[in-house]
Amino acid sequence: MQPIGIFDSGIGGLSIWKEIHKLLPNEETIYLADSVHAPYGDKPKEEIVEASIKNTDALIKKGCKIIVVACNTATTNAISVLRKKYKLPFVGIEPATKPAAIKTITGKIGILATKGTLASELFLNTSKKYRGQVRIFETIGEGLVPIIESGNLTDVKPLLIKYLLPMVKEGVDNIVLGCTHYPFLIPIIRKIIPEHINIIDSGKAVAQQTQNILSDNGLLNQTSNTGKLDFYTNADVAILRNFLNSITKDRLNIKFEKW
Ligand code: DGL
Repeated sequence: MQPIGIFDSGIGGLSIWKEIHKLLPNEETIYLADSVHAPYGDKPKEEIVEASIKNTDALIKKGCKIIVVACNTATTNAISVLRKKYKLPFVGIEPATKPAAIKTITGKIGILATKGTLASELFLNTSKKYRGQVRIFETIGEGLVPIIESGNLTDVKPLLIKYLLPMVKEGVDNIVLGCTHYPFLIPIIRKIIPEHINIIDSGKAVAQQTQNILSDNGLLNQTSNTGKLDFYTNADVAILRNFLNSITKDRLNIKFEKW
């Protein structure tokens, strides 16, 4: 059985892995947390592309049949390069501007994402399409990824207040989490923003898209075997393990590796 390969700049993409594993429990998965290079969001495009190529090469070496780029920053900066360079299918994630623009009643939406995502051509092109219909309030979540990567969220609330309250005051009714690390902050975010505001994260949509692409390419696992679940990090194994323990009770293989 060939696995689904998933990578992120760190542990953020586990929010995507969780949805993929829920939807496709028989599939084997290999997750790469490139935490040693996090955050990607502050890096120039060329470095994000280079890291994405390294991650993809490592997953292909491990026999993956599809690559899920579980990182908005890597998708918006590198997925077109990856699709040109490799033959296997890719699934990416970008800020859910369209769903938010469809849902909003106030006509105002907020997007919290990394600098690299908000500056990318892909994001700018998508948001240009909706700027005529809705007002978009974008904020860079400066410093959030390193805090999440550290595994200690005690200092994160003041930053979230600083980033989210201005858009709340502007009247947004939908806030897009445009970084796969941010869903881990939802319990704290819910305490900061009013109840009527929707929080949009695209984990389920990415899982659905992964299933569709596997199915269209005849790549779905047809056996009822339970898939092996492998996780690699090039940084602190204990932090990766803690996050995984908080989202699943399945038996996992968690290893340190450089790639
Ligand atoms: N999880 C990545 C994303 O979705 C984090 C980016 C970073 O490392 O700065 O954008």
